[in-house]
Amino acid sequence: MTAREVSLAVEVGGVRLKNPVVTASGCAGYGREYARFYPLARLGAVVVKSTTLEPRLGNPPPRVVETPAGMLNSIGLQNPGVDRVISEEIPWLREQGATIVVNVAGFSLREYAELARRLDRVEGVSGLELNISCPNVERQGTSFCTRPDTARDVVRVAREATGLPLWVKLSPNVADIGEMAQAVAEAGADAISLINTLVGMAIDVDARRPVLPRGTGGLSGPAIRPVALAMVYRVAQVVEVPVVGMGGIATARDALAFLLAGASAVAVGTASFSNPVAAVDIVEGIESYLREQGFSDVRAFVGLANPDLRAPRGVTPARAGPRPGGSPGGPAPPACPAAETPLGQEEGPG
Ligand code: DHB
Repeated sequence: MTAREVSLAVEVGGVRLKNPVVTASGCAGYGREYARFYPLARLGAVVVKSTTLEPRLGNPPPRVVETPAGMLNSIGLQNPGVDRVISEEIPWLREQGATIVVNVAGFSLREYAELARRLDRVEGVSGLELNISCPNVERQGTSFCTRPDTARDVVRVAREATGLPLWVKLSPNVADIGEMAQAVAEAGADAISLINTLVGMAIDVDARRPVLPRGTGGLSGPAIRPVALAMVYRVAQVVEVPVVGMGGIATARDALAFLLAGASAVAVGTASFSNPVAAVDIVEGIESYLREQGFSDVRAFVGLANPDLRAPRGVTPARAGPRPGGSPGGPAPPACPAAETPLGQEEGPG
């Protein structure tokens, strides 16, 4: 590697990413629309839309509302069901060379376990992201995400059903995000994704009723970025598993702020609706910023604004260990021995 090259690779709870930028679940479907704009293999991973055991048509329209600096959605977990995701979407994503993380959503512990079991040995699946926090369905997934004991149960049953790395996506709609993070980490989460959407509402004044048929929806976009950043910063101080940060990231500088807060990787969601190449712009922007600043390895940048960081700098193997057959990226690199000290920083920041 020449002095000017920057290594962007990170390993997030056993999922090896070529760079720290992934799609936020729900905002890229299965990647088909975005593949018209850029090769999906340019990203660290494609995190697919929440997958349920049975197919779901989702909620009646309207399903999205624009808000100041953001949007509300109420999709209702529309998806073709896990069996079709396995037979149609994952093979297609593999053909694209994408690293694949499958987001799953269940309505019971049994469903989470069954989803994890069905995806366990599917070729090309590098990890699962457990969505324990969909705000937009009956029997809300939120019942799992608002209490540490139920969140722990979901992770435990999924952990028993699969050797795949488990990222657990937390909801911000809780009193103490640190407590939730600790609970899922203790139960076997390999990484924590946060934040999911904040519950919000828009009202049509003339119609005198909420715009979304279910009343509330999930708020995303730049409006929630400061909330997300604070929660990532906090969680990175209380758990020893890596954090995937998300919430309103629209530019490379936004992403860099999440890395500085302690996220080992970031997810781009709502920004892709107005700029379909946002995620790739962010990969390139991170790389050029780090090069300008004299960093040769993105891992050296993680957590630099968070003196009490406990989360690692993007180098942890999954505790469950690689499953038989391994992930498509090949064997994981050894854990970085210098995780406690800045890595690859040649000239220092600034
Ligand atoms: C859905 C919406 C969300 O904001 C979310 O976090 C998960 C799922 C949905 O309605 O499908």
